[in-house]
Amino acid sequence: MRNIVVLIIVVLIGAVWFFTQSNGMGSKHSHGMGANQNAQGQALTVNIPEFTAAALTGETYFNSKCAACHGVNGTGSETGPPLIHKFYEPSHHGDESFQRAAKVGVQAHHWNFGNMPPVAGITRAEVAKIVVYIREIQKANGL
Ligand code: HEC
Repeated sequence: MRNIVVLIIVVLIGAVWFFTQSNGMGSKHSHGMGANQNAQGQALTVNIPEFTAAALTGETYFNSKCAACHGVNGTGSETGPPLIHKFYEPSHHGDESFQRAAKVGVQAHHWNFGNMPPVAGITRAEVAKIVVYIREIQKANGL
């Protein structure tokens, strides 16, 4: 009987340790992230607007050069953050920050995904179309 009680206590301490460890990891860089925002790597559910022609062109560039990390419709993936997020709304990350990200990459500062490498083989005009596409989704989601 005594052994069982000791065993239960040990298991409980283990469980508490486990949960505090895993929470600590995710919150390290959570600068500005609301409690109801997805932490990382979880695709968001977003409203998809009727795209303009420019945005549809941007979508094709986005899917070939950015979606592997930023997810379908910019909703995030296991390797990159969502762009449909208040960090990236126009007032916080202007269009030029998209150009810069594609050209020289990004040092990780908001999330824990690591650095974004420069994107090879994309032009300013193509990135400008991607921005149109992302802004239209942001706008449809109140950003
Ligand atoms: C290999 C993965 C990867 C690819 C491909 C990628 N990104 Fe990123 N991107 C990231 C990560 C990771 C971050 C977040 C860095 C951080 O922690 O702030 C990021 C951040 C950004 C930011 C925020 C920049 C800033 O100033 O904070 C923009 C804008 C962006 N990406 C646009 C793009 C666009 C546009 C493309 C395609 C042309 C693209 N990304 C392709 C991984 C990627």
